This record gives sequence, C-alpha cells and structure tokens, in this order.
Amino acid sequence: MSELRIFPANHSLRGTIRVPADKSISHRAAILGALADGDLRVENFLPSQTTQATVNCLRGLGAEIGQPDPNTLVIRGHGLRGLREPNDVLFCEGSGTTMRLLAGICAGQDFLSVLDGTPALKRRPMARVVNPLREMGATILARDGGRLPPLAIRGGHLRGIDSTLPVASAQVKSALLLAGLFADAPTIVREPGPSRDHTERMLRAFGVRVEPVAPGDSALAIRVSPTSDLRSLTFVYIPADFSSAAFFIVAALLVPQSELRVERVGVNPTRTGLLDVLRAMGAGIVLEGEQEQGHEPVADVAIRASNLHGVEVGGDTVVRMIDEFPIFAVAATQAHGETIVRDAAELRVKESDRIATVVTELRALGARIEPQPDGFVVEGPARLRGAVVDSHGDHRLAMALAVAGLMAEGEVVVKNVECIDDSFPGFAGLLRKTGAI
Ligand code: S3P
Repeated sequence: MSELRIFPANHSLRGTIRVPADKSISHRAAILGALADGDLRVENFLPSQTTQATVNCLRGLGAEIGQPDPNTLVIRGHGLRGLREPNDVLFCEGSGTTMRLLAGICAGQDFLSVLDGTPALKRRPMARVVNPLREMGATILARDGGRLPPLAIRGGHLRGIDSTLPVASAQVKSALLLAGLFADAPTIVREPGPSRDHTERMLRAFGVRVEPVAPGDSALAIRVSPTSDLRSLTFVYIPADFSSAAFFIVAALLVPQSELRVERVGVNPTRTGLLDVLRAMGAGIVLEGEQEQGHEPVADVAIRASNLHGVEVGGDTVVRMIDEFPIFAVAATQAHGETIVRDAAELRVKESDRIATVVTELRALGARIEPQPDGFVVEGPARLRGAVVDSHGDHRLAMALAVAGLMAEGEVVVKNVECIDDSFPGFAGLLRKTGAI
C-alpha cells in the first residue's frame, strides 16, 4: 500500500497548471460513442481505473473501442441497437457511475447482463436505479432484496415513465435518460435538486431530444424522447475536471502568498457550487476567458491566497458541490468562525461515508469538527499537526488530507493513496510542480 508524505508548505503555490480530464464526462463520452453510428474520437479522455472499467464493460457489450494512447479513445459504434449479450460479468471495478449508467443501458437490451464490482462498490445503494428501471419494465435481480450489487438485468420493451427521484442524483437521472432512449414513449425525470447535467448536454450533441417538461421550466423536470439512432459525432474533447481543480483551488487559497492559475477547467454551473461558497467565505477567485469546449463551459481559474471566514452550506448548493466536501472541510478548518454543512446526508454513500471519514481523519490532524446526521460543523481556524491518516480507499479524501498536510505543523503521512488514480493520476507530481511540496 503506498503512502504520501507531506511536509508543511514552505512555499506558496505559483504558476499555471492543468488538471486531468473530467471523470463524469469521460464516462459519458465512452457510453454515448458506443451507442452511436460511425467513428468517434474522444480526446483528453481521463485514463483511470473507473473510466477504464466503463470502456471494458462497453467492449464486453460488443463495442469496438481502440485506445491509441491512454488519453484517446477511438470508438466504432454499431448504433443504438448494436450491442450484444456479454459472455462474461461486466466488472465495474469501484465505479458507481459505471454501474448505474450501464444499468440504464442494459435495461434497454433484450439480453442478460450482469454488473458487478469491487467490495467497496458492492456496498453502494442500487435500489435508486433498480426500482425505476423495473418500473420501466426491466427485470432486475440484485442482492439484499434489490438493494446491492451485483445486478442481473434482462431488459428490452421498456415503457416511458414519469419518475420523481427521492434524492438528487446525476447517476440515477442518467440511467433513466439512457434507458429512456429505448422506451416506447418519452420518459420524464424529476429531481429535488440540480444534479450535474453532462448527460443531457451530451445527448443533445448526439441529436437526442432532451428538454424541460414545461418550456422555460427549470431543469429539475426533464423529458427525453426515445429514438432509433443517435446522430454521429466525429470528435469530442473532454474538459479538465473541476472536482480535481478544487484541491489546487483550496491549496492556493490557504497557503500564504499563493497565486495560481488552473487552465481550461470545466465550469458547468451544476458543478461549481464550491466556487460560490468559497467566494462567500472571502476567497479571491476569478474566472477568465470563459468559452464552450466539448459542449461544456470552460474557463481559467485564477486563485489568490485569502483569509476565509465560516459559512453555512445547505440546499441546492450541496448538490452543486457534492464531490467537494472533503476538500471543503479542509478549507473550513482554516476559516475564522463556524462552518455548518447540512442537507448533505448523501455524503454517507459516496466512495466512503464521507461524513464519518472526513471527521475522523481531520480530527487526527487537530481539526475541531463535529459530525451531524446530514453534514458536519467545523470551528476554525485550527492549528493542524502532523499525524498518520488514512484515505479509507477514497480518492477525494486522500487528496484533501494531502492539502491539509500543507497547513500542518509536522509531517502528515496519508496511507492508501493509490486510489488517487481513480480521478487524478499525477496529483503528487503536480503538487510538487506548484512548489508546495
Ligand atoms: C456522478 C454523480 C455524482 C458524483 C459522482 C459522479 C456522475 O453521484 O458524486 O462522483 O458522474 O454522474 P450521484 O449522482 O450519486 O450524486
């Protein structure tokens, strides 16, 4: 098991960096490319175990996917109805996105597919996709009364449904939109909050009708129309991942005298809740040169070290920063006053129980942080100290703890850091490049 040793930051973070490609969009480009006709070239694909799992599962379903280099896919799609029965289990590794999105695709197929994954994935809740896909007409067997992986799916002949999701979830929404492509009538998905809309954007790029239920209505109720084929696209470029940039954004805010620019980052508003919250805390962050790239907004993010004060986070903002809470908690430990996070019970079913693991590991570094059923409360600023901490196999916690280490007075050792490659290959090297370690 590898570990990362972080010494207190002697130096500010400076210069201009680029972070790896967006994980969510990489999954979607591979999936939709496999459902389209013709050759799609995906550039700046994220090479990670999770996105590779999606590629391998799609190959198992009969898609022809070449990977001339780790960052490029060349997908020869056989059309929306061109998939075939896999002759082995589709192994999703630890990737919830792979399992839930592919469950939607497999529900549309008149053959048997079995989706399985690592022990960590086997603990993630699946009833949220199993129930509505069953309502559409798919037959799905799953462990623990339909709640846990593996999933055995036999689909085809789906009905369009009107489904209200109990929690805002882009993975569940996407599963239903993808299944909806194969249904006999439009499918409507209603959400309690604004989850990321990458699937909708990319479906539109492939010519699919995805629109608000009522014209001018919010994106919280959307309708997808079934189709016989996707428009062929020849090229998609994946923008850099805002969730990866977040670690450098917070590091540059916290380490005195830092001035850092992260180039060409995806700034889709359904992903940038952290920016709004950090600015409300007093952060000096500016977006420059905003433009469209690969059907998504991108911009340079310029960050200056800032004094932060505590803030309250709840409601829709939680959905728009759902993956950023481990690093946000680190920022809160250095902010003056109390920071309160509520409405965030979903954190308990991410790659780890992020309320429990963030609280345990940040306390080991000397933070004053209290768990709540649906969030946490942090009292800052705290003087962090050196300690040995653990990622719990959660990539975002591993990187958050490394950034916390920059602020600690002794050496911080983060154990089990191989999971960082799930979303951010090259993280430690880039931290070195900025001069922080
Ligand atoms: C993702 C959606 C989010 C997020 C996950 C990736 C996606 O999960 O936490 O890291 O790619 O759709 P939920 O949809 O379960 O909130």
